[in-house]
Amino acid sequence: MMRLAVFASGSGSNFQAIADAVMENRLDAEVSLLVCDKPDAYVVKRAEALDIPIFCFRPKAYDNKAAFEKEITARLHEAEVDWIVLAGYMRLIGETLLAAFPEHIINIHPSLLPAFPGLDAIEQAWEAGVKVTGVTVHYVDEGMDSGKIIAQEAVAVKPTDSLASLTKAVQAVEHRLYPDTIQSLLKERLSQGGPTYNEHQTSINQRIE
Ligand code: GRF
Repeated sequence: MMRLAVFASGSGSNFQAIADAVMENRLDAEVSLLVCDKPDAYVVKRAEALDIPIFCFRPKAYDNKAAFEKEITARLHEAEVDWIVLAGYMRLIGETLLAAFPEHIINIHPSLLPAFPGLDAIEQAWEAGVKVTGVTVHYVDEGMDSGKIIAQEAVAVKPTDSLASLTKAVQAVEHRLYPDTIQSLLKERLSQGGPTYNEHQTSINQRIE
């Protein structure tokens, strides 16, 4: 069973969608840890209600990004995490985490990337007057919403839409597309027959010992 850490900073509706998919056996994985940089975020309440372990931290309590990412990495290894799933984590991932989980960090973004990266993507698309927007799941690299694309789904902007109704439509697609995409990705990796990332790490550590 692949072990996921979900990183979130806000309401956590995507965290909830992933946890629901696990509980309903639509996603063969375990949510092993919530990592949150905002102790007051609603996502923390969701994780508590689901009995999912939480690592909350205040970035300001550390000297720099490398320092808090080092601590996160230690927690991830302790929880034997295989994949990092970003779900509204409002920070760029730094080189410490990228080096610790190469090609095992993914993100969801509410636009058809490369259009409208960054903050308020649904609003950016709405203001631009696009007729089609959507959702992207992609690998994470050092840039802002710039990694290789894994899955996309379009959402048509209807003449009757408001920003609020478009936001709802995009979020509904996110909540279905993210768990489905994670499931396909895990299946694909498992069918390639290699060790899970965590098994790989453990064998390296054993060799070092
Ligand atoms: C989502 O729209 C996601 O695509 C973006 O941040 C938002 C997080 O929402 N990266 P939630 O916290 O999952 O409700």
